[in-house]
Amino acid sequence: MGILPFLLASASCIASTFCQNNSVTTTFTNPILDAVGADPWVIRHDGYYYMTYTTNDDITLLRSRLLTNWNDAERRVIFKPPPGLNYSTDIWAPELHHLSGNWYVIFTADPRYDNPPPEVDMLCVFNCPAVHHRMFVLEGTGTDPWAAEYEYKAQLDTYDQFAIDGTYFQHDGNLYHTYSCWSEAYDAWPANLCITKMSNPWTVSSPLSERQIISVPTNPWEKTPYGRRVNHRLSTNEGPQQLTNPETGQIFLIFSAGRSDNRNYCLGQLSLVGDDPMDPHSWKKHNDGCVFYQNAEEGVYGVGHASFVQSPDGTEDWIVYHGMQDPANGWAARTIRAQRFSWNEDGTPNFPRPGYGPYHVPSGQVGDKSC
Ligand SMILES: *[C@@H]1O[C@H](CO)[C@@H](O)[C@H](O)[C@H]1NC(C)=O
Ligand SMILES: *[C@@H]1O[C@H](CO)[C@@H](O)[C@H](O)[C@H]1NC(C)=O
Repeated sequence: MGILPFLLASASCIASTFCQNNSVTTTFTNPILDAVGADPWVIRHDGYYYMTYTTNDDITLLRSRLLTNWNDAERRVIFKPPPGLNYSTDIWAPELHHLSGNWYVIFTADPRYDNPPPEVDMLCVFNCPAVHHRMFVLEGTGTDPWAAEYEYKAQLDTYDQFAIDGTYFQHDGNLYHTYSCWSEAYDAWPANLCITKMSNPWTVSSPLSERQIISVPTNPWEKTPYGRRVNHRLSTNEGPQQLTNPETGQIFLIFSAGRSDNRNYCLGQLSLVGDDPMDPHSWKKHNDGCVFYQNAEEGVYGVGHASFVQSPDGTEDWIVYHGMQDPANGWAARTIRAQRFSWNEDGTPNFPRPGYGPYHVPSGQVGDKSC
């Protein structure tokens, strides 16, 4: 049974008459990809959705007409690094962005699965997980993200310190790098959110003295064990994503809090309340708890690492995230899901409770085939 569904799916994509005559599907269920998957990123461009997620060994780009079914999506490995480089292993959380006319893939990676030698490990307070994780960028030239050839462009300067889950943040014509950071090279925890200025999509222009920490996991719900007031070990802010209210223009940085291998992982929210994203006082955290979190009644746990995209007709806002059905299985339990969300009166996002559906498909989505 392993190969048969794949053949059927491919055949349906090649037979375009079949695709043109797509049946009308009005609902979908989660997950939207029947595979283990984490850290999903989705972008809509020219009638297609493009997805990347953590595949560890390479960067795979998926393309689909449907936001809510990726099982027969086209797949293309756009990058597989040779061994022996600083970005050869643990390739995490790739994101595809369209910036100044080209396509950029920003991703996390490390050398040799980041096994720090004892002389490095002794420098950390607890131990040194991820001490060599850094951020990197690929460039694909041209207008078509599917046809583009992606080439290694640069490492992003994080001052030779821990950096994961980096993303681009755009404000007033300026470009920033925001990512999960330690405050010092051998802190290990907490993992905070940092921001630096960029002069282009592959160059950080802030020196370390200007790097800003804009969020620290200080609330009990950002810590692991969950709810503990005093604990830095395992306390994490990561997976930041820019979210803009299309009507009011209000800007948010939605991030993941807690630890990604257990049921309490959730989304937290920062609002940009000042003019300068490089001023920590410009950011206001929603301290009253997660804004998107586990739903035990429906068997959904550990929801986080979201990205945001609109329906095919551009009228609805959707969140794409990962979650677990079996929280005892840790990282291997994560699958990729999608749901519609709306906005509160005060302009903040109004996320739904996570679940499996069935839910209505996105507005303007036609058919049930990815081609
Ligand atoms: C497509 O659907 C229409 C209406 O349901 C039907 O008349 C037509 O024969 C179908 N075409 C194909 C190629 O299946
Ligand atoms: C690889 O990473 C190490 C440790 O961060 C650094 O010292 C070294 O310069 C890097 N190598 C290259 C080619 O960037």
